[in-house]
Amino acid sequence: MKPPLKIAIAGLGTVGAGTVRLLRQNAELLERRAGRKLALVAVAARDRARDRGLDLSGVRWEADAAALARADADVVVELVGGSEGVARELVSAALQNGKHVVTANKALVAHHGAALARLAEEKGVALAFEAAVAGGIPILKALREGLAANNVKRIYGILNGTCNFLLTTMRETGRDFSDVLAEAQRMGYAEADPSFDIDGVDAAHKLALLAAVAFGTEVDFAGVHVEGIRHVSALDIAFADDLGYRIKLLGLARPTELGLEQRVHACMVPRAAPIATVEGVYNAVVVEGDFVGRVMLEGRGAGAEPTASAVVADLLDIAQGRNATSFSVAASHLRRGEAAPMDRHRGAYYVRLMVLDRPGVIADVAAALRDESVSMEQMIQRGRAPGEGEAVPVVLTTHDTDEAAMRRALARIARLGTVVEPPRMIRVENL
Ligand SMILES: NC(=O)c1ccc[n+]([C@@H]2O[C@H](COP(=O)([O-])OP(=O)(O)OC[C@H]3O[C@@H](n4cnc5c(N)ncnc54)[C@H](OP(=O)(O)O)[C@@H]3O)[C@@H](O)[C@H]2O)c1
Repeated sequence: MKPPLKIAIAGLGTVGAGTVRLLRQNAELLERRAGRKLALVAVAARDRARDRGLDLSGVRWEADAAALARADADVVVELVGGSEGVARELVSAALQNGKHVVTANKALVAHHGAALARLAEEKGVALAFEAAVAGGIPILKALREGLAANNVKRIYGILNGTCNFLLTTMRETGRDFSDVLAEAQRMGYAEADPSFDIDGVDAAHKLALLAAVAFGTEVDFAGVHVEGIRHVSALDIAFADDLGYRIKLLGLARPTELGLEQRVHACMVPRAAPIATVEGVYNAVVVEGDFVGRVMLEGRGAGAEPTASAVVADLLDIAQGRNATSFSVAASHLRRGEAAPMDRHRGAYYVRLMVLDRPGVIADVAAALRDESVSMEQMIQRGRAPGEGEAVPVVLTTHDTDEAAMRRALARIARLGTVVEPPRMIRVENL
C-alpha cells in the first residue's frame, strides 16, 4: 500500500467543514478507491475556539493559514476564499514549494488562474478547482475527459443557485424581487451582502473558468459582459410566462469571428428548453460539442456536501497520481483570445415599456425601431383600461438584431414623453 496522501486544509467554514466530514465519513471508500489513505494532517482557520462539530484530534492546528504552505503535507486545500490576501498568498506559496493545490475559490482562479496554472506546471504539481464551478457538478472533469474529443461550439449554464432560487420563487409566488430577496436573506439562502450573487459577478467568475477549460484560452474575467437580476420584475416574469418563456440568469460563452463571447445576464429561454426546467437552488451546465451534440449536467451548485464532493474528487485524482492539467491544455498552450464586443452581439430581444395610453405612442415606438432597422416580431398590450394619466405596459419582442442598434432604439424610446419609465430589455435565447 502506498503511503497516505497528507492533506492540509485552510478554511473550516461551510466547504472546509463539509470536506473534513466527507474525508471522515467516507474514509474507507476513499482509501479503497485511491489505494492509499487520505490523511488530514493540518488545518487552519481564524478562530480556534469556534465549535465546528468536527473531530480534529491528532490534526495540527496552524494559527497562520499561510504557514500551511510549509506544512508536512502533499496537498494544500484552500477553502478560505477571496481573490487576494491569504488565499492567494497560500496557493502561490504552496505551489512554489511543490505542493499540489485544491481550491474551491472561483474568484482567485478567475483573476489569477493562468499564472497559477503555469506555476503548478513548472513545479510538476496539480492545481485543481472542480469545486469552483457549479459546486457538486463535475463539469470541469467532464470537459477535460469525457468530452475532450470535441470542439465545443458553445457552453452555457445556470451558475448561481441564489439567483435561480430568487427567480424561481418570484415566478411561483408572483412577488417582486426585493421582497423575495429579503426573505431569502432571512432564510439563509442569500448572503447579507448579496451583490456578488445578484449582480452576476459570481456567475461571471465561473463562466470565465468554464470558457477557459472549454476553449483552451487564458481565463479572461475582464472580457465577461456582466449584468445581474436586480432589474427583473414580477411583471416581466408574468409576461415571459405568457410568451412561453422562463427568465434565467445564464452564463454563456462561445467562440465567434469577433473573438470569444462571454456574457452573464438574465435571459428568456423557451419553457420547453431543458435548462428552463432547472429550478430553485439547482445549477446546470450545457455543453454543445461538434461530435457529441448537447450534454447537460444538473445538480447542486453550492452547499457543504456537494462542494465537498467536488473537492474530494480532486483529492482522489491527486492520490492516484492523475495530475490533470488545470485547464484542458497545458498552461503554456492556452491561447490569449480577443473578447467579442457586446455591442456587436446579435440576438433577439424582449422589451417592456410603461407608456401613457395616448394616440400615436405605438407609432412613435415603431418608428424608433424601424429607424434602427430593428425588426419587431410581436407587440402586446395587456391589462385593464388605464385611468387618466396611468401608465400601461407594452411588451414587444424582436427578430435577431444588433445589440448596438437595439440600444440606440431604446435610448430614443426612453426620450419619448409618453414613456414613463426606462425601458426594460431582456435578451431572448432560443436554446
Ligand atoms: N459555500 C459554498 O457553497 C461554496 C460553493 C462553491 C465554492 N465555494 C468557495 O469556497 C470557498 C470557501 O467558502 P465557504 O462558504 O466555506 O466560506 P466560509 O464559510 O466563510 O468559510 C471561510 C473559512 O475561512 C476561514 N478564514 C477566513 N479568513 C481567514 C484567514 N485570514 N486566515 C485563516 N482562515 C481564514 C474562516 O475561519 P473562521 O471559521 O475561523 O471564521 C472560515 O473557516 C470560497 O472561495 C467560496 O467561493 C463555496
